[in-house]
Amino acid sequence: MCGIIGYIGPKAVAPILLEGLKRMEYRGYDSAGVALLNGTGLQTRRAAGKIANLEAALASQPITGVVGIGHTRWATHGPPTERNAHPHRSGDESVAVVHNGIIENANTLRSALVELGYEFRSDTDTEILAHLIEELFDGSLEEAVIAALTKVEGTYGLAVVSSRDPGKIVAARKGSPLLIGIGVGENFLASDPSAVLAHTRNVVYLNDGDVAVIERDAYRVIDRHAATIPHTVDRIQWDLAEIERGGYDHFMLKEIFEQPMSVENTMRGRLILADGTAKLGGINLTHADLMNIDNVVITACGTSWHSALIGEMMIEELCRIPVEVEYASEFRYKNPIVTDRTLCIVISQSGETADTLAAMREAKRRGAKTLGLVNVVGSTIAREDDGGVYLHAGPEIGVASTKAFTSQVVALALFTLKLARKRDLSVVRGREIAQAMHGLPAQLAEVLASAPAIEAIAEEFKESTNFLYLGRGYNFPAALEGALKLKEISYIHAEGYPAAEMKHGPIALIDDRMPVVFVAPHDAVFDKVVSNIQEVRARHGRTIVITSRDEPALKGLIDYEIRIPETEDMLMPILSAVPLQLLAYYIAVKRGANVDQPRNLAKSVTVE
Ligand code: F6R
Repeated sequence: MCGIIGYIGPKAVAPILLEGLKRMEYRGYDSAGVALLNGTGLQTRRAAGKIANLEAALASQPITGVVGIGHTRWATHGPPTERNAHPHRSGDESVAVVHNGIIENANTLRSALVELGYEFRSDTDTEILAHLIEELFDGSLEEAVIAALTKVEGTYGLAVVSSRDPGKIVAARKGSPLLIGIGVGENFLASDPSAVLAHTRNVVYLNDGDVAVIERDAYRVIDRHAATIPHTVDRIQWDLAEIERGGYDHFMLKEIFEQPMSVENTMRGRLILADGTAKLGGINLTHADLMNIDNVVITACGTSWHSALIGEMMIEELCRIPVEVEYASEFRYKNPIVTDRTLCIVISQSGETADTLAAMREAKRRGAKTLGLVNVVGSTIAREDDGGVYLHAGPEIGVASTKAFTSQVVALALFTLKLARKRDLSVVRGREIAQAMHGLPAQLAEVLASAPAIEAIAEEFKESTNFLYLGRGYNFPAALEGALKLKEISYIHAEGYPAAEMKHGPIALIDDRMPVVFVAPHDAVFDKVVSNIQEVRARHGRTIVITSRDEPALKGLIDYEIRIPETEDMLMPILSAVPLQLLAYYIAVKRGANVDQPRNLAKSVTVE
């Protein structure tokens, strides 16, 4: 999704902006641009496509300045062309704006500005802001920005510079993340901590409604009356090495291989083996709160929604509390049954997904307690939930979520264990589950050792045009996740289904060209899945089976086998996810796809 960077300080501005934009490449974008201010006014360079194109434009026509803003765009209003790339300038070229989000009353504002004589040079809603700020300018850029924002409906993270009030960047946030990076004799603005991490760890996360004025030696956070408001300075916990590829061909592969460590980090200091429970410091739920939960709603999008489905099964099985899983985009517009005895678990890697955030706010509004399972520290969901469990999986840069998924399932297991032990789960059973969790990092390392064998399977199937992924019980969501991984990075059509449900439709697709991936470890429903494998074989489907034992029942049914170790049924998707991720990865690479930045996708979906 769109990225914003700003810099004011003594160094050459354009290279800093370019570097920041490159650090945010992983978020997904389709064009980029920068605007710099110097003694002679505003200069912009913009380019469609990759940041390399912008870099080339800057190399052939360099610009210099002492303050600048930059942007990577993910098209919403108008196609991804140079003309629509940000920054957008006002009619008199005095104001430049970069903007993430959507202006909902764009048509009304545009008509009013056209009436006043403004000519539009792009199809974007952002250009409106540039003209509006020019129109309302009366000596102070921050006041003009505040005045413009009173007329705007919608969401924004934005940064503005003006030659009529130089020496500052004005930023504002409503619904789209922004932070100030605090340096010495220099300051930064960014939508993502990774863009400033090479320069500073000290950041101020802006809240919705905040406006910021950033100068070379100072910054202020102000409200809508230009009055200074208090803020806190946070430290980014990540290291630069964590947001670099570190010798791997792709971030996705690096992140797949990090899973023994990321899962360990999710559990670190939380798993209490002796008591068969978990210690979760941030959930802000008292013993009484935990005992009084009548029902649980888990809401999320995409991969996080798949981990929610696994959480549903865990909580229902071990805590005997009814759980509903809702797509955040659907939940927010329903009339959901939520009371003050509802616990709403919100799952998000980025902590910024617009629909998930809105769903959480809706649940809160209706009186539910909210618990965020979030990876990005300081993100909006993490700051607005009532309590939370950070995943501590480390930065996930590859657009396809991998290590965040396994850490989400681990976090759900930790919470389930805690809740179940408060309620009816025996200490003996609790200990068994805790012990199994403790063994996961080593088991993940074992699964990763089969990467070369999975790569060989990928070679066989790289030309396939369709895939079916089937699983039952805890491994049905794993099948969904396997299908999502494949389609998003290889562009092969793939569907996940509960294995038995196949008979009610998808079986019609099966012939000798259809690869069917079965997630079939030896769990409570294993025998049932064997029957489903037989049904596929009888129709000459090609079977790739992820299983955990040498099973006589599988003899003659498997074309390609991937072996994983055994654990508790509820934890099995953590192990089965890894071969599914690797299969998708290797197929995509063999098809020449851009694995880390798949087409049309964004890492953090901050629009509805
Ligand atoms: C798929 C993927 C997406 C995200 C979804 C939610 O690989 O990454 O489906 O899972 O956009 O994102 P978060 O978890 O950041 O809310």
